[in-house]
Amino acid sequence: MSSTLSNLKKCCIMAMVTFLIPCLSYSQKLVSVNTETNALVFTVNENNELNTLYFGDKLKNSSEYELIAKHYKQGTDYSEIYNSIYTPAGSKNLLEPAINITHTDGNTSLSLEYINAETNEVEPNVHLTKIVLQDKVYDLEVDLFFKAYYKEDVIETWTEIHNNEKGRIRLHKFASVNLYLYGDNDFWLTHYSGDWAQEMRPEETRLSHGIKVLDSKLGTRANLFQPSVFMVSIGKPATDNEGTVLMGGLEWSGNFRNEFEVDPLNNLRILSGINNYASDFELKKGEAFTTPKFWFSLSRTGKGDASRNIHNWARNYKVLDGKGTRLTLLNNWEATYFDFNEKKLKKLIEDADKLGVDLFLLDDGWFGNNYPRNADNAGLGDWEVNQKKLPNGIGTLVKTAEKNNVKFGIWIEPEMVNPDSDLYHEHPEWVIKQPMREEHYFRNQLVLDLSNPDVQDFIFNVVDGLFTENPNLAYIKWDCNSVIYNAHSDYLKDDEQSELYIKYVQGLYNVLERIREKYPKVPMMLCSGGGGRVDYGAMEYFTEFWPSDNTDPLERVFMQWEYSYFYPSSTIAAHVTDWGNQSIKFKTDVAMMGKMGFDIVVDELPKDELEFCQRAIKNYNELENVIWQGDLYKLKNPWKNELASLMYVGQDKKKAIVFNYLVNYRYEKGSHSPIKLKGLNPASIYEVEEINVFPGHEPIINKEHYSGDFLMKIGVNPKVSSGHPSVVLRLKEVSN
Ligand code: DGJ
Repeated sequence: MSSTLSNLKKCCIMAMVTFLIPCLSYSQKLVSVNTETNALVFTVNENNELNTLYFGDKLKNSSEYELIAKHYKQGTDYSEIYNSIYTPAGSKNLLEPAINITHTDGNTSLSLEYINAETNEVEPNVHLTKIVLQDKVYDLEVDLFFKAYYKEDVIETWTEIHNNEKGRIRLHKFASVNLYLYGDNDFWLTHYSGDWAQEMRPEETRLSHGIKVLDSKLGTRANLFQPSVFMVSIGKPATDNEGTVLMGGLEWSGNFRNEFEVDPLNNLRILSGINNYASDFELKKGEAFTTPKFWFSLSRTGKGDASRNIHNWARNYKVLDGKGTRLTLLNNWEATYFDFNEKKLKKLIEDADKLGVDLFLLDDGWFGNNYPRNADNAGLGDWEVNQKKLPNGIGTLVKTAEKNNVKFGIWIEPEMVNPDSDLYHEHPEWVIKQPMREEHYFRNQLVLDLSNPDVQDFIFNVVDGLFTENPNLAYIKWDCNSVIYNAHSDYLKDDEQSELYIKYVQGLYNVLERIREKYPKVPMMLCSGGGGRVDYGAMEYFTEFWPSDNTDPLERVFMQWEYSYFYPSSTIAAHVTDWGNQSIKFKTDVAMMGKMGFDIVVDELPKDELEFCQRAIKNYNELENVIWQGDLYKLKNPWKNELASLMYVGQDKKKAIVFNYLVNYRYEKGSHSPIKLKGLNPASIYEVEEINVFPGHEPIINKEHYSGDFLMKIGVNPKVSSGHPSVVLRLKEVSN
């Protein structure tokens, strides 16, 4: 059989598989993963290794993919696997590997051969491609998975490593993804740095040859210094409306490692996975290791389209109750800190009703008796109600809430323990610490060892107990304030210690899984001493997250701007607090672009401010579906302009809301010309009206009518100025 014919035969076998690629005309063996716009195409080389051929706009004629390679004259790939779909270490790799292992016999070489691929429809719109690779010498199989969300243009990918050898093997590196982007050394990476109250500070840098690493070794509060989400622009830095940009992130709530390697051919290799730092993992004979998923989305039309795709994907498939409603709330943290009693809380609950929010959220400080939680140095771990502060328990607060037509939610931080607690003394073996070394604390606390099933049970029971005792409990804020120091588990054996970071996260997911089995939809906020932990691994269990303890609204404009590239607004909790010296209107308008809440002493609000907040909440209730489920368009970037402007357009284009915030308070700064809107129906007539107008003030725009065509071609001037630093416009379709 000629080689072309044999390839044709193999390709036909793959047709069962690569459903979108007809088997007829290929002389190359191709495997492709397709979404509505993009194709990720792999090709098998002469050594039967699977390499990336292409990732970009889908070609109309799929038989033309095989013509791509000959147009690249970038130099010599000595190993022939620079573009490997999953680069094995220890044989001929010259660049950063995706996988590195020690076999049963102590040998450290690996070479992966393509075996087969198949694609199946998992559900309408979602196809799963499984690619099987096998070591040429050892019984080691690597299965790669690509889950393509067709309409959303998002792909998730992960890996299963199967030990079919005669004994144990050790994994030293086990990436989730090994992408290969073709270019001419023209890649711009946007990544984020942070710290407490300074989350999501973007940096854009042109990648140079070599490897840029973004990683976390913090264990629990893994995103404190940087999250795993990033963007890579190709050709030139993308803007909201133009340019080629890839967005991605790891679905893992622990240590991660992202590597960006511009190779000798000027192309970009992106590896992302669990951080292999101090994390060797052993697989017994017959066992498999599944890496976390890595999600990514490629847009040729700028960041806006990419983020709208990601939002749709997140709401449709990832975030818990992504299409569901959310609760506005009043939180007592900044109103009281640890200093409260039943009377004070009951008053705040009544205030929640007066304000018009859906829920009252009781924060930190309600528990601990022998070690009362009156400050952050005691009580964590002792989850029984503090008798002095709340002699009648939580139940009476839940009842008060019910009487006042609001729901009741509660704060917990169940993964942690203060050394000053009963739990610490009763179960020192449950605490992550080095037996021979001095303890080292983060916010006076230590982390419980979630690799231990007893600890998992304990945490599950904390949550289950709260719900059992208070069946009407309607919301949980799940905090996590400490990183892992002195990583050592009393539970794991000596030769398993390097698995602690990984088993911790697996243990956490295990607990969350159990909670969700029993309480599938109760809203839960993911918090981590501010925004120290958010990713799509965790968001399968949470309805929203706390982006930062920094609630200064000016800071939040920038932070929420960045978060909202990756996460839909329904997940981004934004509260009105005492941070910042801007007006209550500015604060409320900024909170309204996300999942709105309040953390203020309502009783101290002057009459007009209270009235303003009440009206704003009503407006929010009216438009929440547009904000949470609508398409987000970014109109003026605060990093480059005197104001930030963004809008949400309802999926049916009948309603929209435009938020405008002054970010430069110098003389005469503001909006001097119209801002072009986006996403509207050009043929429709919209009524434009300023809402959230402070009592006693006149709206800047009062029910003026414009066509969608006008609003998108000419725009509207929100007249933002130091006198009107925030302006919220509502658009209603009045005819079409
Ligand atoms: C850190 C969180 O970010 C805050 O919102 C608050 O819940 C405190 N922890 C409570 O200790």
